[in-house]
Amino acid sequence: MQQFDVDFLHENLKRIPLISATHIYQSVASTNETARRLAKHGAPGGTLVLADQQTGGRGRLGRTWHSPAGKGLWFSLLLRPQRHENAWGLLPMVLSEVLVVTLRELYGHAFAVKWPNDVLFQNRKLSGILCESATAGDALEMIVAGIGINVNQSADEFPEELRASAVSLREVLGGETDRTALLLALLRAISDRLEPVLAGEQELHLQRWREFCPDFGKRVEISAGNRRISGIFRQVSVLGEIIIEQEHGEPAVVSCGEATFQQR
Ligand code: BTN
Repeated sequence: MQQFDVDFLHENLKRIPLISATHIYQSVASTNETARRLAKHGAPGGTLVLADQQTGGRGRLGRTWHSPAGKGLWFSLLLRPQRHENAWGLLPMVLSEVLVVTLRELYGHAFAVKWPNDVLFQNRKLSGILCESATAGDALEMIVAGIGINVNQSADEFPEELRASAVSLREVLGGETDRTALLLALLRAISDRLEPVLAGEQELHLQRWREFCPDFGKRVEISAGNRRISGIFRQVSVLGEIIIEQEHGEPAVVSCGEATFQQR
């Protein structure tokens, strides 16, 4: 099992404009939780929290995220939006698209995005993103963007209940991946992309996201709390919402939830 090359990481992270400080842990409950705690103690925007293992990794919608030692990339970015406040709703979709582009460039496989913020390979989940924000009055005070990527697990290392739906890079590529190099490539790409998207390139970003989404035109059911909405997936908005054409032709606009697409 390869460890992170911590010295190499620190040396190279210095050259990534987005990253202002880095905290690397052997094991934490959740990097999102650690980033929020650091934020309360004044950590600056651009703080990166990375852990080799999470004992209480959190997923969206109250789920847990399996994060065993040495097997994945489990990290969070603390961001403190000072400008472009309205554009930050797109952050999860920006991150998933940047992940897909970078993984495709590195490995040449057809990774895909799934609304709202997953990265899939052949319909199985490789990566999930959990963005949590805090406001002060009306202002967006901070966002913690947590990214989990299954890297070096073999199929039988996933818990039984995830085996059919989850996938690791190791299964896709047939061998181990250097997590240090992958993390640096991803952070460089996030750093390069974030500012222009937030500064006004939202439409361009959505066009790119659409290119990597195979689900347009499919039947979808969204569960959001105790609401269930179904119809045909037609569009995503600049706020990151999904737009569905319902049975009677009326559009429904949904900002978050779990989407199940009918495979053709
Ligand atoms: C999802 O449900 O798809 C989101 C999963 C997000 C997991 C990552 S791992 C790093 C960060 N810390 C957490 O506790 N969760 C996120």
